[in-house]
Amino acid sequence: MKFKHEWIEKNPWLLIILVVLVVSVGGLAEIVPLFFQKSTTEPIAGLKPYSALRLAGRDIYVREGCYNCHSQMIRPFRAETERYGHYSVAGEFVYDRPFQWGSKRTGPDLARVGGRYSDEWHRNHLNNPRDLVPESNMPGYPWLATTKLNPEQIVPHLRALKRLGDPYTDEDLANAPKELAGKTEQDALIAYLQGMGTQIKARN
Ligand code: HEC
Repeated sequence: MKFKHEWIEKNPWLLIILVVLVVSVGGLAEIVPLFFQKSTTEPIAGLKPYSALRLAGRDIYVREGCYNCHSQMIRPFRAETERYGHYSVAGEFVYDRPFQWGSKRTGPDLARVGGRYSDEWHRNHLNNPRDLVPESNMPGYPWLATTKLNPEQIVPHLRALKRLGDPYTDEDLANAPKELAGKTEQDALIAYLQGMGTQIKARN
């Protein structure tokens, strides 16, 4: 037995092939079940797909690159749950395409920011973060407050999500433009922020 192992170690190509084999079997055994487990594939109780306004807000979040400084994933460590609230679970993200998890935190994690501040706070903060947090290095986004949404633009997005399996009805699609009418990009972004992570109660 000892002899055979020495033989493997002295044959780099054989060693590489055997290592790849062992690692992929281990990997598959860990990863494949995740595609079928209820806890990773099904929405948590009460989770609804994004409303038209929140979805429009999410598009703005992605467009403005907020993910470059903010993650949306609370890890199950005490330091994180004390600061941000309950750790994130997979079932919270089934309607997130693409995910905004991230690992870069120049600013705080936003996974449970919903309901933590008033809409008014967010308005002031987005217009100029330094009005509220003098040492903040977050850029201001004042133009969002004066830019109106294009209400028709959200319909193809909803339709695409419906095709991918999100439970939108034809009525949801028909009513979407009405929900966006007269709203600014800032209204949409705040609606998105205020719903974030609220399915599982934030801090205490
Ligand atoms: C250059 C990095 C950077 C970018 C880009 C950025 N932020 Fe921030 N953000 C921060 C920092 C730093 C803080 C903490 C200081 C503060 O509250 O302003 C913060 C704080 C926040 C908070 C308050 C979080 C809390 O729990 O107190 C919200 C909400 C927020 N950002 C939303 C956004 C949104 C929405 C965008 C995109 C439109 C964005 N941020 C883009 C750096 C950034």
